[in-house]
Amino acid sequence: MFKHLLNLLLLTTICTFTAAAAPKQTIKIETNKTSLILKVADNGRLYQSYLGKRLTFDSDINHLPDGIEAYLTHGMEDYFEPALHIQHPDNNHSTELIYKDHKVTTNADGAKVTTITLYDPQYPVTVVMNYVAYAQNDVIVANTEIINNHKKPVVLHKYASSLLSFNRSRYFLTEYSGDWANEANMSQTELNFGKKVLDTKLGSRANMFLSEFFQVSFDTPATETHGEVLVGTLAWTGNFRYTFEVDQNKKLRVISGINPYFSQYTLQSGKSFVTPDFIFTLSNNGLGDASRNLHSWARDYRLNNGKGDRMTLLNNWEATYFDFDEQKLPQLMDDAVKLGVDLFLLDDGWFGNKYPRNGDTQGLGDWQETESKLPNKVSYLCDQAAKKGIKFGIWIEPEMVNPKSELYEKHKDWVITLPNRKEYYFRNQLVLDLSNPKVQDFVFGVVDHLLTEYPQIAFFKWDCNSPITNIYSNYLNDKQSHLYVDYVRGLYNVLNRIKAKYPNVPMMLCSGGGGRGDYEALKYFTEFWPSDNTDPLERIYIQYGMSMVFPSKTHCAHVTTWNRNASIKFKVDVASMGKLGFDIKLTDMSQSDLTFCQQAVKNYNRLKTVILDGDMYRLVSPYSGNHASTMFVSPDKQKAVLFAFDMNPRYNEHLLPVVMQGLDENKQYTVKEINRYNQDDHTVGTFSGQYLMTVGINAFSHNHLSSRVYEINIAK
Ligand code: DGJ
Repeated sequence: MFKHLLNLLLLTTICTFTAAAAPKQTIKIETNKTSLILKVADNGRLYQSYLGKRLTFDSDINHLPDGIEAYLTHGMEDYFEPALHIQHPDNNHSTELIYKDHKVTTNADGAKVTTITLYDPQYPVTVVMNYVAYAQNDVIVANTEIINNHKKPVVLHKYASSLLSFNRSRYFLTEYSGDWANEANMSQTELNFGKKVLDTKLGSRANMFLSEFFQVSFDTPATETHGEVLVGTLAWTGNFRYTFEVDQNKKLRVISGINPYFSQYTLQSGKSFVTPDFIFTLSNNGLGDASRNLHSWARDYRLNNGKGDRMTLLNNWEATYFDFDEQKLPQLMDDAVKLGVDLFLLDDGWFGNKYPRNGDTQGLGDWQETESKLPNKVSYLCDQAAKKGIKFGIWIEPEMVNPKSELYEKHKDWVITLPNRKEYYFRNQLVLDLSNPKVQDFVFGVVDHLLTEYPQIAFFKWDCNSPITNIYSNYLNDKQSHLYVDYVRGLYNVLNRIKAKYPNVPMMLCSGGGGRGDYEALKYFTEFWPSDNTDPLERIYIQYGMSMVFPSKTHCAHVTTWNRNASIKFKVDVASMGKLGFDIKLTDMSQSDLTFCQQAVKNYNRLKTVILDGDMYRLVSPYSGNHASTMFVSPDKQKAVLFAFDMNPRYNEHLLPVVMQGLDENKQYTVKEINRYNQDDHTVGTFSGQYLMTVGINAFSHNHLSSRVYEINIAK
């Protein structure tokens, strides 16, 4: 007892000495346009002094107030939502964090990494805050590491990735919520005293009701071109939570991280917990600028093959659903060839023998070809595709199982399902327990086996149709509250193994439509499926929402039979704003529709580097009226593509010209309308960039569901 007291006294003395001796520090984390300034106060703690437009004079920085603690902890004297809550072995739930040191290094991307170490003077825990500043893109990536140096485990109740605070007059939060086939609806609320929480508890299909990003504009709602706005997104393929809290002084705190809901995490002695990245940008020029920051950052540093090409494709899902065989599929491949796309993608329904996957009620988990449908296996399909000169891709949903499957019969212990309760199902299926390394091996094996047997497979569509239901892991025993976190970590283990062994295979992330999509998953996936809703009118809104954070390169957009009132041209034009694909039978198309599609695919191939890699400008929002327009400009401003849509114009309504952005004012551009339905391209004229960006062109009409595409080239 005496020894213990002596130790404690010694520790306190040393730590107090260290804290008192800590030099007064100011830490500047900067991009080209933003400064995040942290200060160590007299009490040794770290405060966020400033986050806003870049401050260039160091002398000014001394005038900044201390602000709110940079990583607020539970149990101390601030009465608002903490970022960190640790239960120490003696059941003390409080933590105090004192600045120890910080260092600045440069990472492989050339970005500056600021690493700040904090410690608790009474308890042996260390917190390391990391900020990676991408100067050119104006993007900051923040995460936190919590290290337990106790001899015993601690329990983490809250472990946010980041806390940011703001002192402005008013705050306007924009969220993107919805449901299956109705993703990413934009809505805005003003934040007043108290909390607004955006979160998900769905586990695997985590984004089904809410996209994993938000915008907060300051003082006044931001427009595309004006206003100060924070755009943030968590890179975590599971439950997330953003808490926006306005305190009694009208200061806003934004806490972002894994949702702590049923996720108390026991951290063993000597172990560390690294939170996911919170990625944010701050723009002083509105939403468009913020999106372009994130898009360019993602292409340059984050996406799997961010700078590479993307393939156009024909998918058989809506053309056949589960009803296909070895005879039908090569015919669809012929359709792909006729359309001129790069790849044929075989969707759900190719596997299962005891329980053939002829519908969504059985077979999931049994990844062997159904003999009655594919007697000559996938190799026959790969050969057929190769003969026809196209690539072959395949659908999998390896995290899931139907109760009616051999996998379930053999390995019920691998399934997330509650003991002593009746199972309930989402789309007739259950989720495999990826916290279990054996299950990780199995899921990796699905891809590994296919690519070993059929190395010609050039593309995967990875689906995930169920949230985690019946939450209980056979593997985790008394650590049930680890499941949501360990599931996602298990998924990343699998994806890392796939990427290490097959670094060049593109993969599309799908989750019963747009139920997944985040910047951690997109390290492994080249693209994602924003929605099962392919009605082009709906897609204008959905792709608009997703474009706030994710570049068009990641938006899989397919032409289908949804919305028979829309012309093929309207459908193709909408899909051409993303990664173009088709999911349609050519037998459903007239010859002239086919001729149009063939030409549109050629146009797309010619222009896709501008659409997928250029800067995106949302010129007219679908939320603002009856029309929408988006344009893409090559980084050298030599080329652009403009899309204009009439959704539901009123009779004789006053039509405004579409005023462009992003061009060079002093250069002349030739504007040509392309993708005209079986008519030649039409040259509209040659205009200065200044004219196009001041007066604009008449790109809208009074026709319902009509569209125009313009190719804009620098005049020779
Ligand atoms: C849901 C996906 O979103 C669809 O595109 C399709 O792949 C089905 N799953 C297959 O079951």
